[in-house]
Amino acid sequence: MPIILPPITRRQFIQGSLALGSTAIMTSRALAAAESERVEVDQNRVALLADTHISADPNRVYPGTKWPGSPVKESEHESVNMTNCLVQTAKSVIALNPRPAHLIVNGDCTFGRGSEAEYKQFLKLVEPIRAAGITIHVTIGNHDNRENLWKLIPFLKKEQMGLQADVIELPHANLILLDSGNGSLGDKQLNWVAKQLDERADKPALIFSHYNPYNNRGVRPIKGMRDGPSLLKLLAERKHAKAYFYGHTHEWQHDQRDHLHLINQPAVSYYFGKGLAHGWVDMKLTETLADLELHCINRKHTQHGNRREIIFKDKKT
Ligand SMILES: [Fe+2]
Repeated sequence: MPIILPPITRRQFIQGSLALGSTAIMTSRALAAAESERVEVDQNRVALLADTHISADPNRVYPGTKWPGSPVKESEHESVNMTNCLVQTAKSVIALNPRPAHLIVNGDCTFGRGSEAEYKQFLKLVEPIRAAGITIHVTIGNHDNRENLWKLIPFLKKEQMGLQADVIELPHANLILLDSGNGSLGDKQLNWVAKQLDERADKPALIFSHYNPYNNRGVRPIKGMRDGPSLLKLLAERKHAKAYFYGHTHEWQHDQRDHLHLINQPAVSYYFGKGLAHGWVDMKLTETLADLELHCINRKHTQHGNRREIIFKDKKT
């Protein structure tokens, strides 16, 4: 079950900031801004993030475009500061009116392999979001470490099958969060998700996990998760499974197979293709659809404001 961080009170926030040290001033300001106006929290609005890749060093920058076989010339790599991207994202999410009741980070919270220092920095950066009344959920990516995450925030540990998986029941849709952190879901988890879907066939379901379900057709040729075909078959057989959301490829892409939308979330942090969009997605749910709007870190990016719709049912029915 993914880590679920409940919203925090101002008192808890200040205590936590004092314990965590230097960036408390920055986050306290963000908290004050969050509290400066009382804003309604909307259960039908969810902020979708993926691949924040937070380093223990807030000044760390990284050129995601650099890997063996990258088409980008050595002199043309573009570096991104990951901490700044998450700070900017937090501000944008908190500024929404109404605010989303939930925020999901769909894997790869950290830059390295999920060290305690990285998770402490990550938690520091998301504290203003929690203080704004938004509940945070995190799935496990290949750069995460379940045990360290559980050790750092043990009261949030929700273990099933030795993994993190959960169902968030919202008024218009159920969100099912899965753990593909090892590059596959495994038979036990596939059976579990089938059971969760079958028990909730009366409402649209949106499924989240970190890995792409098939080989990436985007800029970086990343292999799909090992049992992706099994997941896709399972979802194809259940018409109320409306979309599968994933990160890992750091690229904003959309695909559709019959009733199933495949939404590839961009990274909050660095992108793999030179100049590609990075940012987060604002999801608004109604009885008839999920409306997705891309918020780029660079608001001048040509894809900023890009929209996708996942139709749940015809308005006339
Ligand atoms: Fe990633």
